[in-house]
Amino acid sequence: MDVLMISPGYPAEMPRFARGLAEVGARVLGVGDQPSSALSPELLSRLAGYQQVPTLWNTAAVMQAIRPWLSQARFERVECLWEPGMLLAAELRSALGCPGLSPAETIPFRDKEAMKTALDRAGIRTPRHAKVASAARAREAAAEIGFPLIIKPIAGAGSSDTYRVDDERELEQAIARVRHVPEVSVEEFIDGEEFTFDTVCAGGRVLYYNMSWYRPRPLEGKQKEWISPQAIALRDVHAEDLADGRAMGFAVLEALNFQTGFTHMEWYRKADGEVVFGEIGARPPGARMVDLMNFACDIDIYRGWAEALCHGGLSQQIERRYNAAIIFKRAQGNGIIHRIEGLDAIRRKFGSALMVEDLVPIGQPRRDWIQHQISDGYLIVRHPDLQTTMQLADDVGTHLQLYAG
Ligand SMILES: Nc1ncnc2c1ncn2[C@@H]1O[C@H](COP(=O)(O)OP(=O)(O)OP(=O)(O)O)[C@@H](O)[C@H]1O
Ligand SMILES: [Mg+2]
Repeated sequence: MDVLMISPGYPAEMPRFARGLAEVGARVLGVGDQPSSALSPELLSRLAGYQQVPTLWNTAAVMQAIRPWLSQARFERVECLWEPGMLLAAELRSALGCPGLSPAETIPFRDKEAMKTALDRAGIRTPRHAKVASAARAREAAAEIGFPLIIKPIAGAGSSDTYRVDDERELEQAIARVRHVPEVSVEEFIDGEEFTFDTVCAGGRVLYYNMSWYRPRPLEGKQKEWISPQAIALRDVHAEDLADGRAMGFAVLEALNFQTGFTHMEWYRKADGEVVFGEIGARPPGARMVDLMNFACDIDIYRGWAEALCHGGLSQQIERRYNAAIIFKRAQGNGIIHRIEGLDAIRRKFGSALMVEDLVPIGQPRRDWIQHQISDGYLIVRHPDLQTTMQLADDVGTHLQLYAG
């Protein structure tokens, strides 16, 4: 089967999905805005061809660039697992007559307001919401919805330009800050814990799912630099306190008639147990969360996704053995990382529970923690017991420190 893959080299997880496709027998042709010299030899070995385009945000030009392939390839799938390329993929699918999300079907996955409207229609609980394009409408919507509320872009990612607003004064501040965003969502603020519901589907059936727990909630982790944000892929996805969130996830897939591929959903659980839907992407989560799924079950869901896409099934057994946690670190100070403390003690104490160490090495500049969820690197740990996993993750938060200056 010939598969056209958009941006196989970026973000960092994409080469693994390309590998998965090649391993299940697909012939993968890639198109992206990176030069082929920026692609790893491993990725190039998985691609039957690669075409660089000056920009991915001109569908007609991308179509033109891949035209030479059409005499020798018959594309049956067009895939993009990167949020900004979802619409391009859909447009190429309709041009090439491939199955998968059409441009119209892609909208509810891209536009947070269209998403909530479609889910409201299906009776799924979303935060009260309004789409506004002016300061005056934002004030009106705030008056209707009430404080506290959230203001965020209609097509946001990575919690950028997302603000919690508790009163009139903060409302004015937020309005001033989002002035460059043409349309924003004004939403009821949902207080509670935040989880994911991630699936691999084929033909409308859920073949695999994962639930991860964010500690703390992403917005909070995004606002306080000293926090080492965590996500834990949960072993016991059948726990009673996750049941309503899981049922809601299945209902969302049905409401949006999602058929085949990866999805990443986020949902909230309030203190009184009520669950509220956050958002869905027709793509996997980023920031190594797919690796967490693999560590939790000792599976290769990169290949699993490819198998679902190309062959409509999943042959790997899903046995949930561990809770797997990722802990993102942010250095103290600015400039070059010059000291890392606590790593040896963690290695000794954690033993085989420590799965991955991927920190910015000494001598390298620190990264922008606001722009990059990965920040100055991360550790992945796993353990069969949730409390122990949380303890290990908290230890990494507290005792592993990177210093820059
Ligand atoms: N209505 C809400 N109530 C409470 N918190 C919210 C609400 N909307 C957003 N948030 C917080 O802001 C974060 C980012 O919002 P959202 O997930 O909608 O945007 P995003 O930019 O697509 O995020 P990401 O790409 O990081 O998943 C959420 O994870 C949550 O912590
Ligand atoms: Mg989100």
